[in-house]
Amino acid sequence: MSTQESYPIDVDAIRADFPILDRKVGGDIETPGEGPDDTRPLIYLDNAATTQTPKQVVDSIVDYYYGYNSNVHRGIHHLSQEASVAYEAAHDRVAEFIGAEGREEIVFTKNTTESLNLVAYAWGLAELGPGDTVVLTEMEHHASLVTWQQIAKKTGASVEYIRVDDDGRLDIDHAAELIDDDTEMVSTVHVSNTLGTVAPVAELADLAHEHDAYIFVDGAQSVPTRPVDVGEIDADFLAFSGHKMLGPTGIGVLYGKEHILDSMQPYLYGGEMIRSVTYEDSTWEDLPWKFEAGTPVIEQGIALHAAIDYLDEIGMQNVQAHEELLAEYAYDRLTEFDDVEVYGPPGDERGGLVAFNLDGVHAHDLSSILNDHGVAIRAGDHCTQPLHDKLGVPASTRASFYVYNEKSEIDALVDAVDDARQLFA
Ligand SMILES: Cc1ncc(COP(=O)(O)O)c(C=O)c1O
Repeated sequence: MSTQESYPIDVDAIRADFPILDRKVGGDIETPGEGPDDTRPLIYLDNAATTQTPKQVVDSIVDYYYGYNSNVHRGIHHLSQEASVAYEAAHDRVAEFIGAEGREEIVFTKNTTESLNLVAYAWGLAELGPGDTVVLTEMEHHASLVTWQQIAKKTGASVEYIRVDDDGRLDIDHAAELIDDDTEMVSTVHVSNTLGTVAPVAELADLAHEHDAYIFVDGAQSVPTRPVDVGEIDADFLAFSGHKMLGPTGIGVLYGKEHILDSMQPYLYGGEMIRSVTYEDSTWEDLPWKFEAGTPVIEQGIALHAAIDYLDEIGMQNVQAHEELLAEYAYDRLTEFDDVEVYGPPGDERGGLVAFNLDGVHAHDLSSILNDHGVAIRAGDHCTQPLHDKLGVPASTRASFYVYNEKSEIDALVDAVDDARQLFA
C-alpha cells in the first residue's frame, strides 16, 4: 500500500504488527468483524483518542498472565518476585524514556487525568490559597482545565488563561504578563489535542521558575509523538497515558521531580503505600510507591514497557517526522476545499492531527458519512469546550495520525469529505 521511500519509517513493516488494521468495518456491531456488511477496509484516524496495539504489546500481556501473574511487593514466593521485578523495571524504562533521574520520579496512575488530579489534590489543596494564581492556556483539555478550576474553587485561588491567537499559536507575551509572583502553578498542554499547536513548554518553564512557580506539562499528545526529555524542558511535572502510545488502557504516568514528590502528602491511602501502621498513625513508603495505593497496574505497566520498547525501536525522532509529514499532507489536502475550515497553525507547525469543519454540516453528520467510508475519526468538542466556544463552533471533526498511517488513508479521508460536500451541497 505504501511507498516506503516517501516515509521516514517502515510503515509496511509496522502495519504487519497490527492485525486490527486488516479488518473491515460496516457490519453488525454486535458481531465485530463478521457481519455480512463488513466490507470496507478500516481507515483508523482516531489516534489522538486511543492508538492501536501491536502484537508485541499484546504478547507481553499474554506472557504475564500465562507466565508470572501475581501481586507485587507482597509475596516472597517466586512468581511475586518475578512480577515485582518486571513492574519495577517498567518504572525504570519509563524514567529512561523521558529522561527522568530514576524510578522515584515515576508514578503509575490510571491515565493522564488521574495524574493531573493527583497533583491538584495532593499539592494544590495543600499549597494554594486566596491571592494565588494557576496559569493555564486557552487550549487545555478538560482533564487539566476542570481539575485546576475546581481545585481553585476549593482553595480560593484564581485561574488565568494564556491566550491562543487567531492563528492558533500560544501568545507568549501574554504568558509573560500573566505569570508573576502570585503564580504558583503553570499547567500547560504540550501538543493541543484540538489545534495541533505545540506549546513552547521550555519557555513557559523558564517563566514559571523565574517566579518560583511550578510547571505541569500535559504530555498526553506529545510523549507518544515526539522525543520529550523532562530535563530539557525543565518540567516539574509531566503526565501522559499508555493507551495513546501503543500501550493498554488503564495506565497513565505522573512524572514529578523527586524533591517535589517527596514534599507532597499521599493522594490515596491504603495498602502498598505505607511503611508502618498503628491504630493511631501511619508512615509512608518511599517514592514512587507512596503514590501507588492498593494493588497497582501490574499488567498495564509491563505492557507499557513493551510499548516503549516498540516506539524506541522506531525512534522517537522518526515518529515525530512521520507525524509531521502526515499532518502537513492532511492540512494541505483539506485546505484545498474552500468550504473546509481547518483549526490551528499551518501544516508545518503542528503535531499529528487536524481538526476541521465543513461549512454548514455538523461534525457528527460529517463523521457519520466518513464512517460509511470506513474512516474512523472523532467528532465533538474533544474535551476542549471553552476552546470550541472561542472558535465559535460547537464541535469539530478531528483526524489524527500515528506510526501505521499512510498518505493513501488521508486521500481516502479527503475523498470521503468531498462526497459529503456533494451530498450536502
Ligand atoms: C491533551 C490531552 N490531555 C489529557 C487527556 C486525557 O487523557 P486520558 O483520557 O487518558 O486521561 C487527553 C485525551 O484525549 C488529551 O488529549
